[in-house]
Amino acid sequence: MTQGATPAGVFDDLAPGYDHGHHEEVARALPALVGPGPADAVADVACGAGAVALQLVRDRPAGAPPVLAVDVSPGMIEAGRARAAALVRTGAIDWLLADAVPLPVVDHSLDVVLCASSLHFLGGRALADWLRAVRPGGRVGFTLPPATHFRPSARFSALLAADVPLPGSAGEADAWAAAYGLTDTVSRVHVLGDRRVVVTSAVTPGGR
Ligand SMILES: C[S@@+](CC[C@H](N)C(=O)[O-])C[C@H]1O[C@@H](n2cnc3c(N)ncnc32)[C@H](O)[C@@H]1O
Repeated sequence: MTQGATPAGVFDDLAPGYDHGHHEEVARALPALVGPGPADAVADVACGAGAVALQLVRDRPAGAPPVLAVDVSPGMIEAGRARAAALVRTGAIDWLLADAVPLPVVDHSLDVVLCASSLHFLGGRALADWLRAVRPGGRVGFTLPPATHFRPSARFSALLAADVPLPGSAGEADAWAAAYGLTDTVSRVHVLGDRRVVVTSAVTPGGR
């Protein structure tokens, strides 16, 4: 990371108007592949303006636990809260301004972690932490831009984690997740207009 560039600083500047179409499409594709249950304890990691969390809570029953939405950018959390106030019932999402690594949750207390378009900023240590945070046999889902379609700005480049290889194919994403001990990996390349996104679902070890 270059001096002065922080995720909070860069993403605070982008927060107004962040809920554009690409993020909404990714937010539909990720839960569709991972398939969280209606009452699962779920975290939307590096939630931004809450695209995934908002998508999830629309389909959850009133008694389900709140979706935990964590982001380090105050502007993004504020934008997410404002969207939620207009779109979903009060208390459906638990917004948390925090570094997402490690996730501020008790070991194995989550059923599912979802992370859209953010793991390449968080680094491999986030994936390792999800094995602690999610129960054995739970699910992890993430999306990454494929190497062939990622043209980050200089500001974004300064934030990228060196240890998250952008996948060249669905198989590469599967192999990378499996190297962290995740099982039953399934990755798909989604075509979203002229963009591509690799969506990966996997199971945390020890559930059988
Ligand atoms: C490309 S945006 C994606 C946001 C959202 N998941 C979505 O799909 O719309 C990346 C997000 O990661 C967040 N982020 C980066 N590093 C973080 C960290 N260490 N902890 C928590 N959030 C982080 C940024 O603040 C930003 O909101």
